[in-house]
Amino acid sequence: MLKYFFYTFGLIVVLIVTVAGFRGQKFQKPPIEIFPDMDHQPKYKAQSGSDFYADGRANREPVSGTVPLGYSMPLQKPTAHSSGDATSPYRDINFSTGVSYIDTGKIINQWGTGFPMEVTQEFISRGQERYNISCKVCHGAAGDGAGIAGKYGLVAIANLHQQRIRDMADGEIFNTITHGKNTMMGYGDRIQVQDRWAIIAYIRALQKSQGGATINDVPPGERAKLESQNK
Ligand code: HEC
Repeated sequence: MLKYFFYTFGLIVVLIVTVAGFRGQKFQKPPIEIFPDMDHQPKYKAQSGSDFYADGRANREPVSGTVPLGYSMPLQKPTAHSSGDATSPYRDINFSTGVSYIDTGKIINQWGTGFPMEVTQEFISRGQERYNISCKVCHGAAGDGAGIAGKYGLVAIANLHQQRIRDMADGEIFNTITHGKNTMMGYGDRIQVQDRWAIIAYIRALQKSQGGATINDVPPGERAKLESQNK
């Protein structure tokens, strides 16, 4: 009996010391590091000072005239809320967090479908370029989920040709690009609003190309060319 009392008493002491002991104590010495990993690095932290540079700042300015790769100069400053000129697919840099359909894919509280800008061939080509940069590694050039990332061990990459995704509202795909889905991360911080829509337009073209397209989808003037290619 007494044995159990001592066991219990010991346990309670250990618990109290664990929870309450050494609280608020300050140590002057650094902790013992068995594996320091990469805790200590000769590097500058953002916004810190430096004796090395003449201006005393560790942060370096980008070379003057630097433009983000792949974008033309913004013509118009994006406002905090609006997506700017919806008909101009890539003139202004825009990672908007607005609440309208173009920014969320939602109409009130439902996924909407349809493009909030004109879908031109140029727009779809832009989508193709952006898809190949951001999505192809996983979803594959044809959208079938056979991208290179699968070969390096990423599992369960969605095949964009499955009926479920063909039927999915454009707005829901927009949301997946912005925020990700399960194991897919979000791309909202690196693909602009208009480009997300352009990518969706390209995905729709891919889907069409992999089933469901007929010769009637080809403009009359182009049909003869295709038919001669297929011979
Ligand atoms: C790093 C790999 C990776 C990249 C890059 C990637 N995806 Fe995905 N994506 C996935 C995976 C994995 C899934 C399956 C997630 C799940 O389990 O539902 C997925 C699912 C999806 C789905 C289906 C979502 C659903 O509701 O089932 C869509 C649509 C999609 N991705 C579109 C895109 C688009 C568009 C891009 C480029 C902007 C992109 N993905 C980039 C890995 C990726």
